[in-house]
Amino acid sequence: MQRRVFVIGATGTIGRAAVRALLRHGHEVVCLVRPQAGVGGALAPEDCARLLPGATLRVGDVGDAASLARDGFRGEQFDVLVSCLASRTGAPKDAWAVDHRAQVLALDAARQAGVKQVVLLSAICVQKPQLAFQHAKLAFEKHLVDSGLVYSIVRPTAFFKSLSGQVDRLKRGQAFLVFGDGRLTACKPISDDDLAEYLAGCIDDPSRHNRVLPIGGPGAALTPRQQGEQLFALLGRPPRFKQVPVALLDAIITVLGVLGRVLPSLADKAELARIGRYYATESMLVWDSGSGCYDAAATPSVGQDTLLDFQGRLLRGEAALERGDHAVF
Ligand SMILES: NC(=O)c1ccc[n+]([C@@H]2O[C@H](COP(=O)([O-])OP(=O)(O)OC[C@H]3O[C@@H](n4cnc5c(N)ncnc54)[C@H](OP(=O)(O)O)[C@@H]3O)[C@@H](O)[C@H]2O)c1
Repeated sequence: MQRRVFVIGATGTIGRAAVRALLRHGHEVVCLVRPQAGVGGALAPEDCARLLPGATLRVGDVGDAASLARDGFRGEQFDVLVSCLASRTGAPKDAWAVDHRAQVLALDAARQAGVKQVVLLSAICVQKPQLAFQHAKLAFEKHLVDSGLVYSIVRPTAFFKSLSGQVDRLKRGQAFLVFGDGRLTACKPISDDDLAEYLAGCIDDPSRHNRVLPIGGPGAALTPRQQGEQLFALLGRPPRFKQVPVALLDAIITVLGVLGRVLPSLADKAELARIGRYYATESMLVWDSGSGCYDAAATPSVGQDTLLDFQGRLLRGEAALERGDHAVF
């Protein structure tokens, strides 16, 4: 059945893929975008229109209730809200403004427009919250669950873009950087399109309604060391790793944390270093609190795209990488 779907966060990596998937599923898609969208605000509305063919674009501010009503929903009726909205920096102020406040405002406006169902892109890491953006996301997840609307909260593992930042280093002949021995963590990489297909499928699949849904891509979980080995195999070179001690991140966090009490911009950098440390030491797999371990087998897999195929296409120049502000290496 065709629905009227209102999308926020449509200009992000997963948002763009989600719009494509929603259109493939036959839905009517309306997106609220910023006047200057994309990484660094590089996209004007006409650029967004080229990125989101087939969708209706409206320009406004998701962080402003009046703009949401006037520019976004415009007094019209909608069936579903799909949110791929997320702070681009993860810095505490931005995270609470975007991952919580703007989401709450959009949910309120959506309800007034008749929306009965919400599909929310969240993140698997909120299961073990330590960082400001994780607390902000969890607070909105709770708000959504308490709203009484039909919800699907999708918590994916790592995206291809976040695991491919070292492709250029390796092309230049440099070593693959790993924290510790490169086996501290693991994840089940998921492609933008496989995740987007899963998000779009939430609308009509009752087994995904009123559920929190951790999700990974196909195949076995991969450690950073295995990801590096795969990349060297693609390049036809023997693997070469450089080990970075996690203690280095601890030292950076301590120094920036102390200086950040005087200079707020350094406090944000300290939080970014904490985000880096989190991903260096925590797996993007379902956490089993009973055993105190991450559980790859308990992390569901969907889709067909593999990180290996994607990185092969990156190396051949057939795919591009847009990494944004979250990059560690
Ligand atoms: N990277 C990973 O490996 C990974 C893994 C699991 C889960 N996740 C989660 O997946 C989610 C989305 O990731 P993504 O890579 O698709 O994000 P992204 O590319 O950074 O896109 C973020 C979207 O939110 C919008 N946005 C951010 N701040 C805004 C603001 N102040 N006002 C209006 N719009 C704003 C952006 O719009 P503009 O274009 O206007 O900036 C963009 O559309 C995040 O919640 C992340 O935590 C990521």
